Amino acid sequence: MYHPTSALKNLLFSALFSFSFCTAPPKNLPDLKTTVDQIVTRLYEEIPSDSLNLLDEAFFDSYLTEEEKAVMSTQYWIFEVNQPVRISLMRHVDQKTVPFWLEKSGFVKTNLLVKNELSSYEVWQKEEHSGKVNLGINGLDKHRPVYFISLKPLEKGKKLEITPIFPAQQHFETLEPGAFTYHDWDGLKITEVPDEIRGEILFTTIRGRAREAHLVQAFRSTDFPSSELPDLPVLHWHADPKTSISINWRTSPKSTTSKVLYWKKGGKDTLSLASSPQEIEDRLLQNDRFTLRHTARISGLNPGTAYHYQIQSDDELSPVYSFETAADRTPNFSFIWFGDMHNDPKTGQLAKDATTRFPETKFYISSGDLVNTGLHRDDWDKLFAFTGESFAHRPFMPVPGNHDSQDGLGAGMFQAQFDLPVNGPGGEYSERTYFFRYGEALFLMMDGTLSIPDQAPWLEKVLAENPARWKFLTVHFPAYNSVEPYPEIQDFWVPILEKHEVDLYFSGHFHYYMRSKPLREFKPGSNSNLIFVHSASAHGKGFESDKQDQSFTVLSYPDDYLYQKIDIHGNTLTLSSYLADGKLLDQFTIKK
Ligand SMILES: [Fe+2]
Ligand SMILES: [Fe+2]
Repeated sequence: MYHPTSALKNLLFSALFSFSFCTAPPKNLPDLKTTVDQIVTRLYEEIPSDSLNLLDEAFFDSYLTEEEKAVMSTQYWIFEVNQPVRISLMRHVDQKTVPFWLEKSGFVKTNLLVKNELSSYEVWQKEEHSGKVNLGINGLDKHRPVYFISLKPLEKGKKLEITPIFPAQQHFETLEPGAFTYHDWDGLKITEVPDEIRGEILFTTIRGRAREAHLVQAFRSTDFPSSELPDLPVLHWHADPKTSISINWRTSPKSTTSKVLYWKKGGKDTLSLASSPQEIEDRLLQNDRFTLRHTARISGLNPGTAYHYQIQSDDELSPVYSFETAADRTPNFSFIWFGDMHNDPKTGQLAKDATTRFPETKFYISSGDLVNTGLHRDDWDKLFAFTGESFAHRPFMPVPGNHDSQDGLGAGMFQAQFDLPVNGPGGEYSERTYFFRYGEALFLMMDGTLSIPDQAPWLEKVLAENPARWKFLTVHFPAYNSVEPYPEIQDFWVPILEKHEVDLYFSGHFHYYMRSKPLREFKPGSNSNLIFVHSASAHGKGFESDKQDQSFTVLSYPDDYLYQKIDIHGNTLTLSSYLADGKLLDQFTIKK
């Protein structure tokens, strides 16, 4: 298993730099990502695939080159200080293996413990000169409660200045009870800090950093690897549903050209449009590390018209699919809403059954948690494979849930899979918060995993500028629920929804069904008819509906495989919630 090239490199590196972890690291080291990318590539070349998940820390101790170890020991966290400091490094006590570089680089374990609401962190300390400070990885395992650090300046009377280098942005808190350490779980607070280190400058972090050098028990396989045959087609409306469609599909990177052929139903002329491919990498997906996700945005279509399409990649042809543009006037239409889907095969079947049963459905919306682990492409493969052709014939318009945007690492895989409207608040909200109009309805699609207060002005603006007979908000988190209500959404968004007479709030997250009374019946002073409905299209923990707050609930039902069909006929809306066997669970009508 020990590759001669690696051995040679090891020797050379040792001879050239005679690396010592207690001194400054060698200059011109590659960055951590490049280094781990290369290690993974080498492992794929040298280690049989069925042995990859048997490799442990001891294996990597001999397998990694000295340069790779140096990178892992120094390039994970880098900053500069203007005076000598004492670093306290808080390591989660439940992490089995101490990071290999920690003791070697001069850190000494103390008897101190820092605690948060869940567990304890042992404190390791080391003094550093002024200048650059280099720290190593959290470990080769994926231990999500990653370490965090605090600094104490050692020169009395001199203000400590810290210049972040990597990561380039760094947020600081004060190390004391009540502080948070992880941006992706800022509700998790520190509860105990020993006097010796209380009040020090706390460097916050994200739990996603556990993945940066994840190599032990890290490798996954997709059950649905890509090939030259275009597959997993999904439709969206990137632009106007009356005149455009966005067609998205997948191939392996071996496909050099990929395009969509399309024609009017019953028409003779076939048009074609080449795709814009985007390479997606999931480096730990051992049987399909790279794929291409293709997008073809077709515009200039006729309203209210049926089209056929077929995808061609090199010499491979997909089956023929179809879609329909929105009519100029559409007072009557139906759509289906899925709650949490979690790439569950039964949910996939639910989507297929719903489509067969209600062919009049024009499109689908989803309130997030589409997959279990949004960072893993194999979960997205499952979502699309299990739902079959459901989204190949009718657009699918989702928002991300907390499972789709995880560990503080964003929703990159969600954004890469889809081609949703880019009309949100800008920046990181791209394709995550957006709106679209269909017929006389306005659909506000918002990412509740991002800042709630920061999105309020956008919500106000879109509602003010887009008068519509029907208005719906879709967001993963339910403002009102019996498990963990969302006061921020209640405070920042609900008054805007009331003011603009929004009709329905679709959400998920807690895996049970709940339909609220109209808001005016449980919010003092409100005249709003807004009804909150949350639902799941997959099973959850099974207990979340146990304690029901009857002050706002009309109906609740334990977690189950559910979907909702919404029928709009002019001034009348009917929402019907169905179980997997087709039984009607709930139904209500709103008349204007
Ligand atoms: Fe969920
Ligand atoms: Fe969730």
